Amino acid sequence: MAGFTLTPWEVTGDVDYSKVMEQFGTQPITDALLKRIEKIAGSMHYMLRRKIFYTHRDMDWILDEYEKGNTFFLYTGRGPTGPVHIGHMVPWIFMKWLQDKFGVEAWFQFTDDEKFLFKEGLTLEEVGKWTDENMLDIIALGFNPKKTHFLIDTRHAGTMYRQACRVAKKITFSTVKATFGFTNEYNIGEIFYTAMQAVPAFLPSVLASRNIPCLIPYAVDQDAHFRIARDVLPKLGYYKPASIESVFLPGLEGMAEQGKMSSSKKDTAVFTIDDADTVRRKINKYAYSGGQSTVEEHRKKGGNPDIDTSYQWLRFFEEDDRKLEAVYNDYKSGVLLSGELKSMLIEKLNAFLAKHQKAREKAAGKAEDYIFRQD
Ligand code: TRP
Repeated sequence: MAGFTLTPWEVTGDVDYSKVMEQFGTQPITDALLKRIEKIAGSMHYMLRRKIFYTHRDMDWILDEYEKGNTFFLYTGRGPTGPVHIGHMVPWIFMKWLQDKFGVEAWFQFTDDEKFLFKEGLTLEEVGKWTDENMLDIIALGFNPKKTHFLIDTRHAGTMYRQACRVAKKITFSTVKATFGFTNEYNIGEIFYTAMQAVPAFLPSVLASRNIPCLIPYAVDQDAHFRIARDVLPKLGYYKPASIESVFLPGLEGMAEQGKMSSSKKDTAVFTIDDADTVRRKINKYAYSGGQSTVEEHRKKGGNPDIDTSYQWLRFFEEDDRKLEAVYNDYKSGVLLSGELKSMLIEKLNAFLAKHQKAREKAAGKAEDYIFRQD
């Protein structure tokens, strides 16, 4: 796509989200759909209202079935390559809300195999360690252990590989080449991998011996995998998985420079384990500002919240619409200065992280309550 690159393994440039929707063939989340979700859920999540989750496939069908009593399950995943940053948390925060409001089961896939296969220099021991670490962040968000199941690709190979073979048999080499841009230099594990990512979308149906609708929340970069899954699963007798897809939380350098927060750019990402001083330092030093270069000019002309990272991050983490709107207006009119806006963000994030870190410490030793038990 012109101006940006968007694959499950690389996101660069200024992502044009309407173009993404058009090219992937997903549907916009309309006001009518929002109203319907609100009616059933009993409330509206700010990430929906703000179009952070902005596009979907088959949400109407998911709600139709739900209203008929055919309850869906949720599925999302994590590639354990390093510490979790706040961008990774976005779909999980939303998933927690969905689980609570709809009272549904949630499945998380930890793709240790994927990250080992795709990342140069990463050992299986390292991805194993990150899997253990990353599970704590998900547990810390408060998922109900009775309704939440972790699948770890290599650990649950006994259950998953069998199903992945059924998927893999229906995918040709030319399909993965065309979908992911693979060339002859890719290793054969990479070529197989998408079959593993399809498995949690129907494994609960296999286990229950009946078809259960699946809804997958994810950021748009994962879409290629699920286009394939939607093609294959009906051939195996299962429903096509539905999806609800989000934009990315940009890195501190801003959307034009860095469409997606990246773990490998440590200064412009905020990790869930960063302490308050680190967060303050990173934001003060690196947050791209939409403000003017002098206070006088800023007071006169005002700032541009639409390109200002601090404002953009508040959209993801400040739940109060009225507060957010006031920030927007005050920044635009020049009443609020860039330094003041940064301080608001620092305070908000540090409060969020302090709470998260406490919950994360409490999560230690609880992973086995969430990890799926295969017989
Ligand atoms: N491939 C994803 C990653 O690299 C992990 C993942 C597995 C996932 N299954 C998923 C993400 C389902 C979203 C939805 O992070």
